[in-house]
Amino acid sequence: MSEKILIAKDIHKAFTLGVNHIEVLKGINLELERGELVTLLGPSGAGKSTLMNILGGISNPTIGTVYLNGSDLYKLNDSNLSLMRNRKIGFVFQFYNLLPDFTALENVLLPAMIAGKDETERAKELLNELGLGSRLQHRPGELSGGEQQRVGMARALINNPDILLADEPTGNLDTENARRLIDLFVRINITRKQTVLLVTHNMEFARLSKRIIEMKDGKVV
Ligand SMILES: Nc1ncnc2c1ncn2[C@@H]1O[C@H](COP(=O)(O)OP(=O)(O)O)[C@@H](O)[C@H]1O
Ligand SMILES: [Mg+2]
Repeated sequence: MSEKILIAKDIHKAFTLGVNHIEVLKGINLELERGELVTLLGPSGAGKSTLMNILGGISNPTIGTVYLNGSDLYKLNDSNLSLMRNRKIGFVFQFYNLLPDFTALENVLLPAMIAGKDETERAKELLNELGLGSRLQHRPGELSGGEQQRVGMARALINNPDILLADEPTGNLDTENARRLIDLFVRINITRKQTVLLVTHNMEFARLSKRIIEMKDGKVV
Protein backbone atom coordinates (compact mmCIF):
# COMPACT_ATOMS: atom_id res chain seq x y z
CA MET A 1 0.00 0.00 0.00
CA SER A 2 1.34 3.40 -0.88
CA GLU A 3 1.67 6.19 1.62
CA LYS A 4 2.61 9.74 0.74
CA ILE A 5 5.28 10.83 3.16
CA LEU A 6 5.95 14.23 1.59
CA ILE A 7 3.55 16.47 -0.29
CA ALA A 8 4.54 19.91 -1.54
CA LYS A 9 1.75 21.99 -3.01
CA ASP A 10 2.16 25.04 -5.21
CA ILE A 11 5.45 26.16 -3.67
CA HIS A 12 6.54 29.67 -4.54
CA LYS A 13 9.58 31.47 -3.23
CA ALA A 14 10.56 35.04 -3.94
CA PHE A 15 13.50 37.06 -2.69
CA THR A 16 13.65 40.81 -2.57
CA LEU A 17 17.08 42.32 -3.08
CA GLY A 18 16.90 46.10 -2.96
CA VAL A 19 14.40 47.06 -5.62
CA ASN A 20 14.63 43.68 -7.33
CA HIS A 21 12.05 41.03 -6.67
CA ILE A 22 13.26 37.63 -7.80
CA GLU A 23 10.84 34.76 -8.15
CA VAL A 24 12.97 31.66 -7.66
CA LEU A 25 10.27 28.99 -7.31
CA LYS A 26 7.19 29.34 -9.45
CA GLY A 27 4.62 26.85 -8.27
CA ILE A 28 6.28 23.51 -7.50
CA ASN A 29 4.17 20.43 -6.84
CA LEU A 30 5.68 17.15 -5.80
CA GLU A 31 4.88 14.03 -3.84
CA LEU A 32 7.05 11.28 -2.42
CA GLU A 33 5.86 7.85 -1.37
CA ARG A 34 7.32 6.30 1.75
CA GLY A 35 10.35 4.22 0.79
CA GLU A 36 10.99 5.95 -2.52
CA LEU A 37 14.38 7.13 -3.75
CA VAL A 38 13.86 10.11 -6.03
CA THR A 39 16.49 12.32 -7.62
CA LEU A 40 16.06 16.00 -8.33
CA LEU A 41 17.98 17.08 -11.39
CA GLY A 42 18.45 20.49 -12.93
CA PRO A 43 20.97 23.13 -13.95
CA SER A 44 22.66 25.43 -11.48
CA GLY A 45 20.33 28.25 -10.49
CA ALA A 46 17.16 26.23 -11.18
CA GLY A 47 16.08 26.59 -7.56
CA LYS A 48 16.93 23.11 -6.27
CA SER A 49 18.58 24.23 -3.03
CA THR A 50 15.83 26.75 -2.38
CA LEU A 51 13.29 23.95 -2.75
CA MET A 52 15.25 21.48 -0.61
CA ASN A 53 15.51 24.04 2.19
CA ILE A 54 11.76 24.57 2.07
CA LEU A 55 11.07 20.81 2.10
CA GLY A 56 13.51 20.41 4.99
CA GLY A 57 11.87 22.99 7.23
CA ILE A 58 14.88 25.31 6.93
CA SER A 59 13.21 28.20 5.10
CA ASN A 60 9.56 28.99 4.61
CA PRO A 61 7.90 29.29 1.21
CA THR A 62 6.39 32.62 0.15
CA ILE A 63 3.27 30.72 -0.90
CA GLY A 64 2.50 27.01 -0.69
CA THR A 65 2.24 24.11 1.70
CA VAL A 66 4.56 21.30 2.74
CA TYR A 67 3.11 18.25 4.43
CA LEU A 68 5.54 15.85 6.04
CA ASN A 69 3.88 12.67 7.23
CA GLY A 70 0.61 14.58 7.51
CA SER A 71 1.98 17.62 9.38
CA ASP A 72 1.69 21.01 7.71
CA LEU A 73 5.31 22.12 8.37
CA TYR A 74 4.85 25.85 8.15
CA LYS A 75 1.76 25.88 10.33
CA LEU A 76 3.89 24.57 13.22
CA ASN A 77 5.28 26.97 15.77
CA ASP A 78 9.06 27.39 15.92
CA SER A 79 9.68 24.83 18.63
CA ASN A 80 7.54 22.18 16.94
CA LEU A 81 9.22 22.88 13.61
CA SER A 82 12.64 22.46 15.28
CA LEU A 83 11.37 19.21 16.73
CA MET A 84 10.33 18.01 13.25
CA ARG A 85 13.72 18.95 11.83
CA ASN A 86 15.46 17.06 14.60
CA ARG A 87 13.31 13.92 14.62
CA LYS A 88 11.74 13.54 11.18
CA ILE A 89 14.07 15.18 8.67
CA GLY A 90 17.64 14.16 7.88
CA PHE A 91 19.54 16.74 5.86
CA VAL A 92 22.84 16.11 4.08
CA PHE A 93 24.60 19.29 2.97
CA GLN A 94 26.94 19.83 0.07
CA PHE A 95 29.60 21.27 2.38
CA TYR A 96 29.10 18.62 5.10
CA ASN A 97 28.46 21.19 7.90
CA LEU A 98 30.22 19.09 10.53
CA LEU A 99 31.38 20.66 13.79
CA PRO A 100 35.18 20.83 13.51
CA ASP A 101 35.98 20.39 17.21
CA PHE A 102 33.89 17.25 17.60
CA THR A 103 34.85 13.72 16.59
CA ALA A 104 33.00 11.80 13.88
CA LEU A 105 31.11 9.87 16.55
CA GLU A 106 30.19 13.04 18.46
CA ASN A 107 28.98 14.74 15.29
CA VAL A 108 26.69 11.81 14.60
CA LEU A 109 25.46 11.70 18.21
CA LEU A 110 24.54 15.37 18.39
CA PRO A 111 21.00 15.13 16.92
CA ALA A 112 20.30 12.16 19.21
CA MET A 113 21.48 14.12 22.26
CA ILE A 114 19.22 17.00 21.25
CA ALA A 115 16.39 14.46 21.11
CA GLY A 116 17.38 13.30 24.60
CA LYS A 117 18.53 9.86 23.51
CA ASP A 118 21.78 7.99 23.98
CA GLU A 119 22.38 6.33 20.65
CA THR A 120 26.09 5.61 21.00
CA GLU A 121 25.75 1.99 19.91
CA ARG A 122 23.56 2.84 16.93
CA ALA A 123 25.91 5.67 15.92
CA LYS A 124 28.83 3.25 15.93
CA GLU A 125 26.82 0.73 13.90
CA LEU A 126 25.85 3.41 11.39
CA LEU A 127 29.42 4.63 11.02
CA ASN A 128 30.51 1.02 10.62
CA GLU A 129 27.88 0.43 7.97
CA LEU A 130 29.13 3.50 6.10
CA GLY A 131 32.73 2.21 6.20
CA LEU A 132 33.96 4.50 8.98
CA GLY A 133 34.36 1.97 11.78
CA SER A 134 38.02 2.94 12.17
CA ARG A 135 37.36 6.70 12.10
CA LEU A 136 35.09 7.17 15.13
CA GLN A 137 37.53 9.38 17.04
CA HIS A 138 38.73 11.43 14.06
CA ARG A 139 37.81 15.09 13.77
CA PRO A 140 36.50 16.37 10.42
CA GLY A 141 39.88 17.96 9.63
CA GLU A 142 41.44 14.51 9.85
CA LEU A 143 38.99 12.98 7.37
CA SER A 144 38.79 13.03 3.57
CA GLY A 145 35.84 14.74 1.86
CA GLY A 146 34.20 11.41 1.15
CA GLU A 147 34.61 10.34 4.77
CA GLN A 148 33.24 13.65 6.05
CA GLN A 149 30.19 13.29 3.88
CA ARG A 150 29.57 9.77 5.17
CA VAL A 151 29.70 11.21 8.71
CA GLY A 152 27.14 13.77 7.50
CA MET A 153 25.00 10.94 6.24
CA ALA A 154 25.21 9.02 9.52
CA ARG A 155 24.29 12.20 11.40
CA ALA A 156 21.25 12.66 9.14
CA LEU A 157 20.17 9.05 9.81
CA ILE A 158 20.74 8.80 13.57
CA ASN A 159 17.17 9.75 14.56
CA ASN A 160 15.56 7.51 11.93
CA PRO A 161 14.06 10.36 9.89
CA ASP A 162 10.91 10.02 7.81
CA ILE A 163 12.86 11.52 4.96
CA LEU A 164 16.50 11.95 4.03
CA LEU A 165 17.13 15.09 1.98
CA ALA A 166 20.52 15.44 0.32
CA ASP A 167 21.46 18.59 -1.57
CA GLU A 168 24.25 17.77 -4.03
CA PRO A 169 26.03 15.62 -1.45
CA THR A 170 28.65 14.63 -4.01
CA GLY A 171 29.27 18.20 -5.19
CA ASN A 172 32.71 18.37 -3.60
CA LEU A 173 33.82 14.80 -4.14
CA ASP A 174 35.95 13.19 -6.82
CA THR A 175 34.27 10.70 -9.16
CA GLU A 176 35.32 7.63 -7.19
CA ASN A 177 34.09 8.96 -3.83
CA ALA A 178 30.96 10.41 -5.40
CA ARG A 179 30.00 7.03 -6.83
CA ARG A 180 30.71 5.34 -3.53
CA LEU A 181 28.49 7.83 -1.69
CA ILE A 182 25.63 7.45 -4.17
CA ASP A 183 25.88 3.65 -3.79
CA LEU A 184 25.42 4.16 -0.06
CA PHE A 185 22.26 6.22 -0.59
CA VAL A 186 20.90 3.47 -2.82
CA ARG A 187 21.83 0.82 -0.25
CA ILE A 188 20.29 2.76 2.66
CA ASN A 189 17.14 3.20 0.60
CA ILE A 190 16.90 -0.55 -0.06
CA THR A 191 18.00 -2.01 3.27
CA ARG A 192 16.25 0.48 5.56
CA LYS A 193 13.41 1.39 3.20
CA GLN A 194 14.60 4.95 3.83
CA THR A 195 12.79 7.59 1.80
CA VAL A 196 15.40 9.71 0.02
CA LEU A 197 15.28 12.86 -2.08
CA LEU A 198 18.67 13.44 -3.66
CA VAL A 199 19.82 16.44 -5.68
CA THR A 200 22.44 15.70 -8.28
CA HIS A 201 23.84 17.14 -11.48
CA ASN A 202 24.94 13.71 -12.57
CA MET A 203 22.64 11.87 -14.98
CA GLU A 204 24.42 8.59 -14.33
CA PHE A 205 23.56 8.87 -10.63
CA ALA A 206 20.04 10.05 -11.33
CA ARG A 207 19.41 6.91 -13.40
CA LEU A 208 19.96 4.80 -10.30
CA SER A 209 16.65 6.05 -8.95
CA LYS A 210 13.31 4.84 -10.27
CA ARG A 211 12.02 8.37 -10.57
CA ILE A 212 13.68 11.61 -11.62
CA ILE A 213 12.18 15.04 -11.06
CA GLU A 214 13.63 17.66 -13.36
CA MET A 215 13.65 21.36 -12.51
CA LYS A 216 14.32 24.35 -14.66
CA ASP A 217 13.83 28.05 -13.91
CA GLY A 218 11.89 27.43 -10.73
CA LYS A 219 9.50 24.90 -12.24
CA VAL A 220 9.23 21.14 -12.52
CA VAL A 221 9.55 20.22 -16.19
N1 LIG B 1 18.78 34.18 -0.18
C1 LIG B 1 18.67 34.50 -1.47
N2 LIG B 1 18.46 35.77 -1.86
C2 LIG B 1 18.34 36.09 -3.16
N3 LIG B 1 18.40 35.21 -4.17
C3 LIG B 1 18.61 33.93 -3.86
C4 LIG B 1 18.75 33.49 -2.50
N4 LIG B 1 18.93 32.16 -2.50
C5 LIG B 1 18.92 31.78 -3.80
N5 LIG B 1 18.72 32.83 -4.62
C6 LIG B 1 18.64 32.79 -6.09
O1 LIG B 1 17.75 31.78 -6.45
C7 LIG B 1 18.17 31.12 -7.64
C8 LIG B 1 18.18 29.63 -7.40
O2 LIG B 1 19.20 29.30 -6.46
P1 LIG B 1 19.38 27.84 -5.89
O3 LIG B 1 18.12 27.39 -5.25
O4 LIG B 1 20.59 27.86 -5.05
O5 LIG B 1 19.62 27.02 -7.23
P2 LIG B 1 20.31 25.59 -7.45
O6 LIG B 1 20.46 24.92 -6.13
O7 LIG B 1 19.38 24.86 -8.38
O8 LIG B 1 21.62 25.87 -8.10
C9 LIG B 1 19.51 31.71 -7.98
O9 LIG B 1 19.33 32.63 -9.02
C10 LIG B 1 19.95 32.39 -6.72
O10 LIG B 1 20.75 33.50 -7.00
MG1 LIG C 1 22.06 24.15 -5.10
